[in-house]
Amino acid sequence: MLPAQRSPLGAFVVALACETDFHGWRDAARRLAVAGIEPAHVHWQVADHKQESMFGDLQELSHAPPDARLTVPREFVERAEIAICHTDPNRFALLYRVLWRLRQEPNLLKIASDPDIRRMEALEKAVDRDIHKMRAFVRFRRIEEDGIERYLAWFEPEHFIVGRNAPFFARRFTGMLWSILTPKGSVSWDGEELSFGPPASKHDVPSEDAAESLWLTYYRSIFNPARLMVDAMQKEMPKKYWRNLPEASVIPDLIAGADKAATDMIARTPTTPSAHHAKVQAKHWPMRKDDAAVDDLPEDATLNEVREAAMGCRRCPLWRNATQTVFGEGPEAASVVFVGEQPGDQEDLAGQPFVGPAGKVFDAILDDAEIDRRKTYVTNAVKHFKFEPRGKRRIHSKPNAGEVQACRWWLDKELALIRPNLAVALGATAAQSLLGKAVPVTKMRGEVIERDDGLRVFITIHPSFILRIQDAADKEAERGRFLRDMQAVKKLMGR
Ligand code: URA
Ligand code: SF4
Repeated sequence: MLPAQRSPLGAFVVALACETDFHGWRDAARRLAVAGIEPAHVHWQVADHKQESMFGDLQELSHAPPDARLTVPREFVERAEIAICHTDPNRFALLYRVLWRLRQEPNLLKIASDPDIRRMEALEKAVDRDIHKMRAFVRFRRIEEDGIERYLAWFEPEHFIVGRNAPFFARRFTGMLWSILTPKGSVSWDGEELSFGPPASKHDVPSEDAAESLWLTYYRSIFNPARLMVDAMQKEMPKKYWRNLPEASVIPDLIAGADKAATDMIARTPTTPSAHHAKVQAKHWPMRKDDAAVDDLPEDATLNEVREAAMGCRRCPLWRNATQTVFGEGPEAASVVFVGEQPGDQEDLAGQPFVGPAGKVFDAILDDAEIDRRKTYVTNAVKHFKFEPRGKRRIHSKPNAGEVQACRWWLDKELALIRPNLAVALGATAAQSLLGKAVPVTKMRGEVIERDDGLRVFITIHPSFILRIQDAADKEAERGRFLRDMQAVKKLMGR
């Protein structure tokens, strides 16, 4: 039965529905692996939309013996989902090769020197960077039409990240009607639902200062209801958002121009609030308390789900001016969790904790203490950057007790999921968050305090304290003290 989908050259051809069809890839990869089809015999491609998908042929592969079960580490699945957004045409084959090898080499993912793993990591990193770049650099242009404000942006991502990034923009700009047009697919938010449109063309995009009418015409050509990509939408969106998927866009002013099929389709979709409602919502948006992302979180949410939910957090006002939530980073199996104060300027832009100047000091000292940062979990008491603008610069401003308290909700979730042997409070804010009260850090540094829930908390200073010392000898002495603290941490974290 297998040869049915073999090409004349003897290879299995898998046609995925779209560039980021992770579900399609995963399904095909499972079937192929269970049936014992070697990576060298599989050819992966993205289906031409007009062409019938060949993927159906793979159904037959599911008749493989039931004992040929395939267990795939969750870490691989999560990482593959990111890597697949890369534009490298060989990514599907690479991921299948890794999946294939994992069966014989269960520790493969940990072998950083392996060429396949190195490549996969490079893909993930590039995608991650692109995602953060889009978050930091999308600039909306305000367009007014019949009294309705609409925000349009043109962005050129390097990778296929529009689908993965869409929920972030929906949470961040909930009260606005916006669309982001890109050469790798477009996305639109109508205040309620996301819809995906085809790629926008660079040649047709109006110039920055072109008249609003040109922008509107262009936007309409992309988000023409008949062109919306419901299929691609489902494929691109993380599963948990599927329940929000529209059958079609309900952007009211487009209905008039839609053809019969599109109009019928639209008529069947649930009604959405009126444009007026959206307008009012937009006006009050900055004051709207919207904990949806938080309330949505199931009891048994995974660390990644918690992280994803935190991206839309509005438990305190700090999300408004910051670029993004900077959540903790590191393996879920970490035996130690380092807690800083809050992201700084560079962390805010990068979306990662401790990557700026304080992070460099921290990294160097961990290195000296022979602690591998990649095996630890690094996070902050407060997940959004709080700052005062001073000219073009953003000056760090200390989070207040209310903000620390609000954000503790996330830290508690991280700790509950990771269950480390030790938490390290880097500075007073972290200590306050971890212990629920203010503690004199310089006096208590090096001490371990056991919380009611059994978690041991190691108290020390914040690495930025070392940065701020001017006198070279004092600085060196302080660095030495911090190194000794980290050496103590190393001893404690193993237990
Ligand atoms: N300082 C912190 O407390 N956290 C960071 O992530 C960076 C600097
Ligand atoms: Fe939420 Fe924390 Fe950001 Fe406040 S600082 S909005 S609590 S993530």
